[in-house]
Parts: sequence; structure tokens; C-alpha cells
Amino acid sequence: MGAGIDKITTIGVVGAGQMGSGIAQVAAQAGYRVLLRDVSEALVDRGVAGIDRNLARAVEKGKLQADDRAATLGRIGKTTQLEDLGAAELVVEAITENIDLKKEVFKALDKAAGPETILATNTSSLPVTEIGAVTGRPDRVIGMHFFNPVPVMKLVEVVRGLATSDETFETVRSLAGKMGKTPVTVRDFPGFVANRILLPMLNEAVFCLMEGVSSAEDIDTVMKLGANHPMGPLELADFIGLDTCLFVMEALYEGLGDPKYRPCPLLRKMVQAGWLGRKTGRGFYQY
Ligand code: CAA
Repeated sequence: MGAGIDKITTIGVVGAGQMGSGIAQVAAQAGYRVLLRDVSEALVDRGVAGIDRNLARAVEKGKLQADDRAATLGRIGKTTQLEDLGAAELVVEAITENIDLKKEVFKALDKAAGPETILATNTSSLPVTEIGAVTGRPDRVIGMHFFNPVPVMKLVEVVRGLATSDETFETVRSLAGKMGKTPVTVRDFPGFVANRILLPMLNEAVFCLMEGVSSAEDIDTVMKLGANHPMGPLELADFIGLDTCLFVMEALYEGLGDPKYRPCPLLRKMVQAGWLGRKTGRGFYQY
């Protein structure tokens, strides 16, 4: 028997970056105790400061009571030790997209966590089944794929690995609902559904730019005004991070073995230049 939804009171989050801190925020706002872990105190502090800024903005807009801001922050504990996450009934990993690092983290979590604890990964494209296989509990390993910005985006792809149990799946589906998200069921194939459809569209926009079909601004205007997208594809690629975009395209290309997923050479070149989008101040646009 795994941990059912009623048994979950504390959620561990590994990685206090953009995604991890967003997940910590929505979990704490849903009333869960959260333990946020990163490798240094400075990184954890930066994540919590970002959460505080989001909550402060919500208070200013009258969407959150000041008391709730304090209570939400009060539910978030900070740590640099993976072992401390042994106190959680469910852990969501949101570290960098590197399969070897993720496997290391899952091995360590498998040792630290109670036997019933569910271990979830927020991976955007790595195989959940392969990550689960390094643990002694592949039935309790699952994908919980959130979208950026996590507090705003309503979707969670709940990704079933080959060994994921029905009980784990049901618990995580319910949890996503309690966090105010709409869960969808997805099987463990490269890019799942969202990124398999979205990233080739972004990649095609980079091909249009590379081939001189149109300017970056005009390509974005086409998709905003012609398809009602909230952001143009190049602006969105900068927002996601060009390294992440390239990473997902590589995963689709290799995992599905179809040349239609080949990453655009210009995308690769920009990543080589260190122009990763908003986070480095330069991508298709300057920030
Ligand atoms: N964190 C928290 N809240 C944020 C935020 C952030 N980073 N950015 C914006 N918001 C909030 C604002 O506070 C505002 O809240 P209220 O409605 O409560 O006032 C709301 O979002 C709308 O923001 P703005 O009015 O400032 O701006 P906008 O209307 O242009 O919306 C946006 C901003 C929500 C980001 C919108 O442009 C959008 O939806 N863009 C597309 C995002 C998208 O496609 N994300 C998926 C990326 S793919 C992915 O994440 C998966 C992967 O694995 C790669």
C-alpha cells in the first residue's frame, strides 16, 4: 500500500529554481507543509524570495490576504540536505534536466524516504520509467510535469512509467487537483504530449528566422495575432530557456528516432553562444 492522498501532509521539493519554487508555492498555498531543498542556502533563499515576491504581488492586487501570505511562507521549510526530505510523504524533483543527476537524486531519495513515500519528477522529457528503475520503488515513481509559470499555468501532465501503480497514479492525480491544477494522464513517451506538440512549433519558428522568412518580431506577431497565442514562439522560447528547448528537441529526435524532430542549427548555435533567453539577458531578444 502506498501513501494515499489523505496521508500526504508534507511535500518535499528538490530544486529551488523557477519550476521548483513555483511548485513549492502552489503546494504551500494549497495548505501543505513544504520542505524546499537545493544544494546551497543561497539558492534556497533565492527560491523563497521569489515566492515571497509572487505572494506580495497577489496581496497588492487584493487576490490574497496579508495573513495568508505569512501563513503560506510559514509552511515552507528550507534545507540543503536531501536526507531531511525523509519527513515528506511525497517528493517532487525539479532539478536540471540531466538523467545522470536525476538518477543520483532518486537513489538518494529512495534511501532517505519512508517506504510509502511517492517520488515524482517534474521532468519535461526524460523517461520516468528509467528514473524509477534506479529505485527500489518503481511502482511509487511518477512524472508530475508542471508548466512555467507554475502559479499561473493550470496543467499538470501526470506521467505513468511502465511500473507506476494505479494507487500512486490516483494519489498524484488527486494531489494535482488539490494544488488547483487540472491533471491529464500521459504515458511515458518522449516529450509526453505538451512538449511533443509545443517544442516542434517553437523549433519551426527558429527555422523561419534562420531561413530569413521573417524577422523575430514579425514571426511572434504572426502567432500572437494570427493564432491568438499569448506569447509569440520566439518570445516563449526565450521564456522557457533556449537550453531547455534544445534539450527537449534532442530528446524527441533521439527518443522517437524521426528526423522531423531535428533541432534547428540556429537554436543550437545560440545555446553554444550562451544566449539562453531571459535568464541570461539575451536570446532572440535582449532583456
Ligand atoms: N510567476 C507568477 N505569476 C506570474 C508570473 C510568474 N513568473 N508571470 C505572470 N504572472 C501572473 C501575473 O501576476 C498575472 O496574475 P493576475 O491575473 O492574478 O493579475 C497573470 O500571471 C497574467 O500576467 P500579466 O498580465 O503580467 O501578463 P500576461 O497576461 O502576458 O501573462 C503569461 C503572462 C501568463 C506568462 C502569458 O504570457 C502566457 O500564458 N504565456 C505562455 C506561457 C506558456 O506557454 N508556458 C508554458 C511553457 S512550456 C513549459 O513550461 C513546459 C516545459 O517543460 C518546457
